[in-house]
Amino acid sequence: MLNTRPLHPGFGIEVVGLDLSSPGSAAAIDEMVRMLDTHALILVRNQTLTNQRHVEISRQFGPLLTHVLKQFLTTDLPEIYVLSNVQEDGKPLGNHKEGWNWHSDLSYVEEPSMGSLLYAVEVPPVGADTLFSSMQLAYESLPIAMQERIRDLTATHSYLGYYGKAFADRAPLSDEQKARTPDVVHPIVRTHPTTGRLSLYVGQDIVKAINGLPQAEGDALLAQLNAHAINSASIYRHVWQKGDLVVWDNRSTMHCATPYDDDTYRRVMHRTTVAGTRPF
Ligand SMILES: [Fe+2]
Repeated sequence: MLNTRPLHPGFGIEVVGLDLSSPGSAAAIDEMVRMLDTHALILVRNQTLTNQRHVEISRQFGPLLTHVLKQFLTTDLPEIYVLSNVQEDGKPLGNHKEGWNWHSDLSYVEEPSMGSLLYAVEVPPVGADTLFSSMQLAYESLPIAMQERIRDLTATHSYLGYYGKAFADRAPLSDEQKARTPDVVHPIVRTHPTTGRLSLYVGQDIVKAINGLPQAEGDALLAQLNAHAINSASIYRHVWQKGDLVVWDNRSTMHCATPYDDDTYRRVMHRTTVAGTRPF
């Protein structure tokens, strides 16, 4: 039985007194895997994890994916995607300004990630918080008429469109990267495969259009749903400490990075990404 405390009244839990560096923590991690379905986000603080151990822990949640931006797989293990503003020998150690929009990881593929594990290697003393929103609370707090209106709608998610908006100053995606990331269609309301609970499945920038509606009407609806999803009642703000491991369920939450003084401070974060199934 894990020792826990809530992070937000509606979702998110911190596990305290757990050392994940030890292989003896395998049973505790199995418990965390089960808890993720209902709590949607799990924090474990004060960890000291090797890359190998980070990947081993992540594999208990499921098979791992590798990121399409291979230039940011800069550790000894390709499963670890690095987020960082640090340059080493003139080369970026990781992707910078990634995820500064509301999104669920890998929503732009047919089978998006079920969950992600982000480990804080170096954090700035201020800024760079991550905001998480419960898309289950967001859906459940919509007026019934709106729930019914959107229940069977789908949206097109586009990595190419996101990349063009988020990284306009960079070289465009290669043909191989484009081939790996064609546009995909997902429901706007998705069902959690384990609990059956419904959640909104939208987001900024990556979601290109709501299908079956005129573009302007779809854009307005999307903006309305996004605004509702990121209202303060469904948000948990995570203020990072070095050694934090946060696991979140991409099927029932979305998240957004926030800025920091990147001229002054270093930030190095390691993410692993667990494979998922097609949303329904
Ligand atoms: Fe993300």
